[in-house]
Amino acid sequence: MKIQSLKLVYFSPTGTTEKFVNSIAKGIKINTKSCYNLTNPKQRDTEIIAKENELLIVATPVYMGRVPAIIKECLTNIKANKTPVVFTAVYGNRTYGNALLELKDILVEAGCIPLAGATFIGEHSFSSSELPIAKSRPTINDLRHAENFGKKIITKLNAIQSTKDISKINIPGNTPYGGITKLWSVDFIAISDKCKNHGLCAEVCPTGAINFENTRLIDIEKCISCCACIKNCPENARTIKKGKVKDAAIRLNSLFKEPKNLELFIE
Ligand SMILES: Cc1cc2nc3c(=O)[nH]c(=O)nc-3n(C[C@H](O)[C@H](O)[C@H](O)COP(=O)(O)O)c2cc1C
Repeated sequence: MKIQSLKLVYFSPTGTTEKFVNSIAKGIKINTKSCYNLTNPKQRDTEIIAKENELLIVATPVYMGRVPAIIKECLTNIKANKTPVVFTAVYGNRTYGNALLELKDILVEAGCIPLAGATFIGEHSFSSSELPIAKSRPTINDLRHAENFGKKIITKLNAIQSTKDISKINIPGNTPYGGITKLWSVDFIAISDKCKNHGLCAEVCPTGAINFENTRLIDIEKCISCCACIKNCPENARTIKKGKVKDAAIRLNSLFKEPKNLELFIE
C-alpha cells in the first residue's frame, strides 16, 4: 500500500512521548511529514484531516491509566477517512491501564483504521534525582526498538494492497475504561530563590497555568501536574513539595523499580 505522507500527532509535556514518535517516524522513513504537537495549546485548535493514502502516528502519555483528558476532544475531532493509524501510549513504568485501548477506540471513532499499536516506557513525570522512577528512559535501546517498530510498520504496509487488508488488532484493556480522569487540583510546586523569572516554564506549560509576568503565580485549577515546568527549568528552581504528588512519587519509586518493557501490537 502506497503512503504519500506521514502525520505525527502527539502530546508530550516532558518530552518522552515526542522522542518515541520521532524514532518511530525515523524507522518509517517517509520524507513528507507534518507534525501536530498538541502540547502547544494553539495546536490543539488546529483541524487535523487525514486521508486514506496518509499514515497517522498518534501518541500520548498515560495519565492515571487513561488518555489525558486535555487532548481527548482534539483527538475525537480528527477527521480521518480510512486512514491507517499507528497508536502509541508512553507510560512511567507503573501501568498503561486502559489508555492504549481508549486511544485506539477514539481513533477508530474518528475514522482511522488501526494498523499497529505500541506501549513504551518514559521517565515518570514525577521522577527526580532524589526519587527516580524509570529515570532516564527512554534509553538509546528503547529508541532503537521504536525505530525498529517503524521499520515493521513499513514492511506491513508493503505487504498489503489497501486498508481492507488490515487485520483486526486486539488491545488489552476493559470498558468502561474506569480510573480518574479529573486530575488533582493541587498546589505541589516549590519554587526556590534560583528562579530568575525568565518565563520558560510559562512557555512550556500546556495549559497556560503559569503567569508570564510573575512565574511564581500558578493557576491551580488549570495545572494538570504534568511537570513540564519542573523538568524544563534551566535553573532547577522548581521541585515537588511535600504533599499528595510527592507521596505518589515516593510510592512509585518504591513499588515500580523493575524496568518494564515495550509491547508491540502488530500482526
Ligand atoms: C498526572 C499524571 C498521571 C500519570 N499516570 C500514569 C499512570 O497511570 N501510569 C504510569 O505508568 N505513568 C503515569 N504517568 C507518567 C507518564 O505517563 C510518563 O512519565 C510519560 O513518560 C510522560 O510523557 P511525556 O514525557 O511525553 O510528558 C503519569 C504522569 C502524570 C503527570
